[in-house]
Amino acid sequence: MSAPLVLGIESSCDETGVGIVRGTELLANEVASSVEEHVRFGGVVPEVASRAHLQAIVPALQRAFEAAGVTPDDLDGIAVTSGPGLMGALAVGISAAKALSLAWDKPLYGVNHLVGHVAVDLLEHGPLDPASPTMALLVSGGHTSLLRIGNLTDDIEEVGTTIDDAAGEAYDKVARVLGLAYPGGPVIDKAAQLGDPAAIHFPRGLTAKHDLVKHPFDFSFSGLKTAVSRWVETEQAAGREIPVNDVAASFQEAVCDVLTAKAVAACQHFGAETLLLGGGVAANSRLRGLLEERTAAAGITLRRPRPGLCTDNGAMIAVLGAQIIEAGAAPSPILVGADSGMPV
Ligand code: KG4
Ligand code: ZN
Repeated sequence: MSAPLVLGIESSCDETGVGIVRGTELLANEVASSVEEHVRFGGVVPEVASRAHLQAIVPALQRAFEAAGVTPDDLDGIAVTSGPGLMGALAVGISAAKALSLAWDKPLYGVNHLVGHVAVDLLEHGPLDPASPTMALLVSGGHTSLLRIGNLTDDIEEVGTTIDDAAGEAYDKVARVLGLAYPGGPVIDKAAQLGDPAAIHFPRGLTAKHDLVKHPFDFSFSGLKTAVSRWVETEQAAGREIPVNDVAASFQEAVCDVLTAKAVAACQHFGAETLLLGGGVAANSRLRGLLEERTAAAGITLRRPRPGLCTDNGAMIAVLGAQIIEAGAAPSPILVGADSGMPV
């Protein structure tokens, strides 16, 4: 069988994504974001996101088929995010995928959004090398995990995760403390480039000796967020101006230092030769740079998708669907539902 042609639909949060791939070749990736509609609320409003998906999904499908130069008839399958994510938002993508699966008589595959964030790198760097044990660092708005990857379809083990906030969540919360716009990640990334990362020493969660025994590969960002809030409050109370760029750079350094140190340590502990980076926070310039330095020093091969593929999109769902089809897995039942808390 030639590489499967797969349509992928993503609607777990505030991006309506429709992608089309042939195996690991990207043919189309249309993303319509409702982020602007959430800015004034300082976070994603589920009801607003669901309505936006309803409006965006059909035009996004049309644009994707046009861009890919294929027709529904050519498809080998339809993959859709079935979780984790916002229930009402997921339901829009799943309903569309089910309707198209029935109308076009194409098999339907409900897939895991988190694994999609890992799989998307295949579009840029080709299939994983089964001879090279792989670890993935998944950093998004809702999740922060280290995953040992046997294969993407049925052998993934979570070896570490956050015990409180996700990395992206910490970026978004700290941005709010600094009076910066939502989503905080890209804004802090930009501000940090103008600041001094050594200006303020913020705590590195779960890196004390006793923490490393109990939580060697786990993360914690809630103490860091509180430390930034306290620092800002103290300065404000003293009537001093907040050096926003320095705070952003120092906060970012604390996040990236821990993420990279633990990712490299996990590779060494589990004998992984390749580290794959995925999720919205993987677009972060400092995380990408520091990981490059530290993996090179440790002799680990780094795979990181370009920033545009790191945040939510349909191509990541399509390429995971293609992997599932190539592995010969059975399609999902047409009654496949949304699972908002789906684990990896
Ligand atoms: O993976 P994603 O698009 O959605 C989820 O599945 O959660 O990740 C969104 C998160 C947000 O918290 C956003 O602030 C963060 O990714 N993010 C970034 C950057 N771009 C997006 N964080 C740090 N630096 C960035 N450049
Ligand atoms: Zn995501």
